[in-house]
Amino acid sequence: MRLVQLSIRDFRNLAAVDLAPSPRATILLGENGQGKTNLLEAIYLLTTLKPLRAVRLAELVRFGEERAQVAADFDGPGGLRRAAVEVQAGGRTAFLDGKPQERLDTYFDGLAAVCFAPDDLLLVKAGPEGRRRFLDRAAFNRWPAVLGEARDFVRALRARNAALRTASLEVDASFRGPLVRAGARLLVRRRALVAELAPRVAAAFAEISGPGAPAAVLAYRPAAGVRAEGSEDELAARLAAALEERLHRDRERGYTSAGPHMDDLVLSLDGRGARLYGSQGQQRALVLALKIAEIENLRAALGRPPLLLLDDVSSELDPAKNGYLLGYLAALPAQVFLTSTDRRLLEPAAGPDSAFFQVANGAVQPLVS
Ligand SMILES: Nc1ncnc2c1ncn2[C@@H]1O[C@H](COP(=O)(O)OP(=O)(O)O)[C@@H](O)[C@H]1O
Ligand SMILES: [Mg+2]
Repeated sequence: MRLVQLSIRDFRNLAAVDLAPSPRATILLGENGQGKTNLLEAIYLLTTLKPLRAVRLAELVRFGEERAQVAADFDGPGGLRRAAVEVQAGGRTAFLDGKPQERLDTYFDGLAAVCFAPDDLLLVKAGPEGRRRFLDRAAFNRWPAVLGEARDFVRALRARNAALRTASLEVDASFRGPLVRAGARLLVRRRALVAELAPRVAAAFAEISGPGAPAAVLAYRPAAGVRAEGSEDELAARLAAALEERLHRDRERGYTSAGPHMDDLVLSLDGRGARLYGSQGQQRALVLALKIAEIENLRAALGRPPLLLLDDVSSELDPAKNGYLLGYLAALPAQVFLTSTDRRLLEPAAGPDSAFFQVANGAVQPLVS
């Protein structure tokens, strides 16, 4: 997929932006607070229908306006198409070639995006929530149906949590069925994804770190000791048993304490947990390896790399890692959007076909390179 023409209206501080991105690197420069991240956020929303930052959709609409719009012509497997998304108080609507899309898996046919922002550098070090988000977004990039499956799970979880707080024991059983079925489905997806990513993470980490580096292992760790092996039915039965066993405690606390929403992704180096024992440099190299693994995996699955969004990452990486990352990107036949306050940091990612833009106060102007 390649964005050919992008237009943004009233999205955060971007009143009206129309730009023709490079087929390769589009470099967005500007001082802080000008709208660089907002621009990447608009592209991310268009390509994933998810907000990049944890926000309410209404925050995306420019102050004083009623709706935000992002649209792009993109070159996908089915030829040139037009994708659009509109955000207003009531929610968001996705359009493909002008028609509102209800079945979103068709919308995503050909669209996939991976974003890398400074917050991601904490992926290994911080709590499990970020790792679960990484996993679910990666799973959904890989299999668009995960969007609906994850939503089913969250709905079932909320319903059961509400029932735990109010309803009788007998009533709880009727909420458990949908929850364990949706939970098992999600587990199967995550397990399949981790199996695909693990060898790629090990290889990328070894390459980033050079000779003598410890072996990086990526593994899925379900909460409450629920084993993640076996068929989907077996997983559902095991999850049901765990919920049964924890019922009294869960009722006291008012939430469900086993299931995919409590699970974690574990990264280790030579058998030691990287979260506790890795140096900051190793943890960051692991984050880079995770991102590269996701990109390479999508590239293998889709037959082309996903769209890449790099928000101000170069200023956060040491020169060696920044050089590695930008060198990797420069060699990848992908469309990439990069932001920075400092043009020099992104120089290694630029090539003859790069496009440079200046972002100032919500307006975007081409820069002559
Ligand atoms: N809904 C909105 N309407 C108008 N401006 C907004 C909205 N949300 C955020 N902003 C503005 O966007 C600016 C931040 O843009 P951002 O893209 O994060 O900057 P940067 O160039 O540093 O990445 C801030 O000035 C903020 O006030
Ligand atoms: Mg920013």
